[in-house]
Amino acid sequence: MTRHKPVMLREAVSKLALSSGDCVFDGTVGSAGHTRAICARLDFGRIVGTDKDRQAIQEARKTLEKSQCSLNYCLRIANFQGVETIMKACGVEKFQAALLDLGFRSEQLESERGFSFQHEAPLLMTYKDPDTLTKHDVTARDVVNTWDKQTLVDILSGYADETHAQEIAKEIVSRRQSGWLETTTDLVEAVKTAVPSGYARGGRHPATKTFQAIRMAVNDEVRSLTYGLKDIFTALSATARFVVISFHSVEDRIVKRAFSQWVEAGKALSIGNQPITPQQPEIDTNPRARSAKLRCIEKVQNSTSNRN
Ligand SMILES: C[S@@+](CC[C@H](N)C(=O)[O-])C[C@H]1O[C@@H](n2cnc3c(N)ncnc32)[C@H](O)[C@@H]1O
Repeated sequence: MTRHKPVMLREAVSKLALSSGDCVFDGTVGSAGHTRAICARLDFGRIVGTDKDRQAIQEARKTLEKSQCSLNYCLRIANFQGVETIMKACGVEKFQAALLDLGFRSEQLESERGFSFQHEAPLLMTYKDPDTLTKHDVTARDVVNTWDKQTLVDILSGYADETHAQEIAKEIVSRRQSGWLETTTDLVEAVKTAVPSGYARGGRHPATKTFQAIRMAVNDEVRSLTYGLKDIFTALSATARFVVISFHSVEDRIVKRAFSQWVEAGKALSIGNQPITPQQPEIDTNPRARSAKLRCIEKVQNSTSNRN
């Protein structure tokens, strides 16, 4: 299995402007690529980390132990939305820096969870460990087999700007007559039938946007990000940096809007006028980085910043 390579690692850690003693929140611990680098940067301090995926948290613990991270860290299987609950559990009052590196990690993409249109797997697409799913958890199987056509159109266009949302939703719904769509292959076939041939422009697979939209719906990503950003911003102390790495336009729009509102209200300073994008050598060695955008703000109490 491909090990996840942290995206814009150097840039993210540098923008966090860490000082020894800081308490840092990593809301998307994943394989602990960024967490480990944050730990290496601090002589003393704390890290609080969350990930919805139990396997990620287990792996992250091992990685931090192996790298001999000597900081006091508190990792929890949890949504970064509602971070205040985690702060209470970890005994933390404020963060001096926070990071979100959105989306999924390579191990999840290659797992049997149905995130990838490139190999056959059951239609799950949830960040939660499949062993921990309950009947209340939504999966991609529920979305494609039970959600009404208009809702499918709305998520395809709203979460992925899919121009063929109508045609894809119609095809998915019509296929239900011959039984449930059970695997990623079933879904890919439905999309391929619905879109015009030649739709895979620029080397992009025709089902890319459909998979993105359904994954976002399953994990309620728009809500988590919208409310999660607010929760985390509230949890920051003055002068704390907040770095978010996003991977597609829907995520980036939410981050850009929230950050701009705080800047315009005088609650934050924008660090850099434009988002940072990865350098070509990183894209060459890690193609997943190609669509990444890093945005950073610094929380202020007054309009002056005392950290550069
Ligand atoms: C891109 S990976 C993070 C990789 C990590 N920075 C590293 O370098 O190893 C994103 C992680 O965020 C997790 N995730 C996605 N949405 C989440 C949410 N709302 N709350 C907590 N974790 C989430 C996923 O399970 C995944 O492990």
